[in-house]
Amino acid sequence: MSKDLWTAVDHYLNETLMGPDPVLDAALEANVAASLPAIDVAPNQGKFLSLLAQVAGARRILEMGTLGGYSTIWLARALPPDGQLVTLELDPKHAEVALSNIARAGFSSIVELRLGPALDSLAQLHAEHVQPFDFIFIDADKPSYAVYLHAALKLSRPGTLILADNVVREGTIVDPNTTDPSALGARHFLEALAADPRLSSAGIQTVGSKGHDGFALARVLSL
Ligand code: SAH
Ligand code: DHB
Ligand code: MG
Repeated sequence: MSKDLWTAVDHYLNETLMGPDPVLDAALEANVAASLPAIDVAPNQGKFLSLLAQVAGARRILEMGTLGGYSTIWLARALPPDGQLVTLELDPKHAEVALSNIARAGFSSIVELRLGPALDSLAQLHAEHVQPFDFIFIDADKPSYAVYLHAALKLSRPGTLILADNVVREGTIVDPNTTDPSALGARHFLEALAADPRLSSAGIQTVGSKGHDGFALARVLSL
C-alpha cells in the first residue's frame, strides 16, 4: 500500500461522490498563493465532518485551528442560516486568508474568527458565558490537544460531539520511543479521552491524500 494508491482512491471517491466545488477550489488556490501549508483536511474528510455536524443537528460549532478556513467552510455548510461558528487561529496571516475565503463562500455572517492563542480565546469564551457548542473540532497545535479537551468540555453540554484531527500521525503514536511532540500530544489526548468518564470515545485511522493519520470522536455523556 502506498500514498500514491491512497491518493488515487481519494480522487476516485471525491469525483464519484462530490460535484464541482468552485468555492472550495478558490479557497485552496488562495491558500497556495499565500504560501499557507497544505495541511487542511482532505475534501472527503471535510464533507465527512460536515455530515457529522449535520447528523448532530449542530447549530453552534467551535473550531480550534482555522488555517485558511477550508474546514471552516465545510463545517459552516452544516449549519442552519441562524447557526454560529467560532474559529480560533493564532497566525494573523492565516486568519487574513481565512476571512477572505470565508467571505467568498458567503459565511461571514455566521463565522466569527478569534485571533490569538486558542487557549486564551477558549478562556474568554468561558468568561463570556457563551451558549454551549454542539460540535467542537480540535485541529490546532497537537501538543496542546489534552488542554484543549479540558477547555472544550467547559464549553459543552451533554450530547456535544468533540472531533479531533491528526491523532495517529503516521502511526508514530504506537512507537514507545517517539519523541515527536505531535505524536506525544496525540497520545496524551487519547489517554485524556479514555480517562474521562464523561466521554464515550473512538479513534479511527485514515489513509488518503493527506497520508496516514486519524480522527478521534468523543461524545459528551454528562457534565
Ligand atoms: N482546520 C484547518 C487546518 C488547521 S492547521 C483545515 O483543516 O482547513 C492548524 C492551525 O492551527 C494553523 O493555522 C496554526 O496556525 C494554528 N495554530 C497553531 N497553534 C495555535 C494556537 N496555539 N492557537 C490557535 N491556533 C493555533
Ligand atoms: C499538521 C496539522 C494539521 O492540522 C494537519 O491536518 C496535518 C499536519 C501539522 O501541523 O503538521
Ligand atoms: Mg488537521
